[in-house]
Amino acid sequence: MDFDNFCYIIYCPKNLNAAVVDPGNDSLKILEFIKTNNLKLEYIINTHYHSDHTSGNQRIKNSLSSRVIASKLDGNKINGGVDIFVGDNDQLNVGEVSIKFLLTPGHTPGGICLIINNEALITGDTLFIGDCGRTDLPGGSLKEMFRTIQDKIKNLPDHLIVYPGHDYGDKPFDTIGNQKLTNKTLLAKNLRDFSKLT
Ligand SMILES: [Fe+2]
Repeated sequence: MDFDNFCYIIYCPKNLNAAVVDPGNDSLKILEFIKTNNLKLEYIINTHYHSDHTSGNQRIKNSLSSRVIASKLDGNKINGGVDIFVGDNDQLNVGEVSIKFLLTPGHTPGGICLIINNEALITGDTLFIGDCGRTDLPGGSLKEMFRTIQDKIKNLPDHLIVYPGHDYGDKPFDTIGNQKLTNKTLLAKNLRDFSKLT
């Protein structure tokens, strides 16, 4: 782990097809988990291009044949390249598990969030528990992050469980409904108020 990163492995309990989301420096642990559970890795999904979310891509790909997925805008900056580019509202199945992609710019120009089986929301560095991702790094945009939160994140159903890209909050995950009530970046009513938070 570096920077308290979270990496996620999505798999179908019936067919054992799997996808790994945001492998950083933990690729050996990931490979071990896949092997121990007899999973069939199909995809490596990167929520955005930053190296703490992508540095494990090559090692995993060299061990297990799999395809890398990212958005077009961020994918062009990922070392080792991307095999499948996804856009807003694209869908993909991993066995019987459905993944829907949302384009959520702000932290990076092509950051994506993943809705898994209409139950979980993997947010990368777009949304943390109690906060949102930085907008002051190259390619980041305060305005785009505000629009992403207002137009995309806040319109998602309350029951989804947010699984962020870093363990920066007071708990590792939470419902989006609870985050709408407690996360200061979701409570900001306008861009001026929002800009004072970051
Ligand atoms: Fe990041």
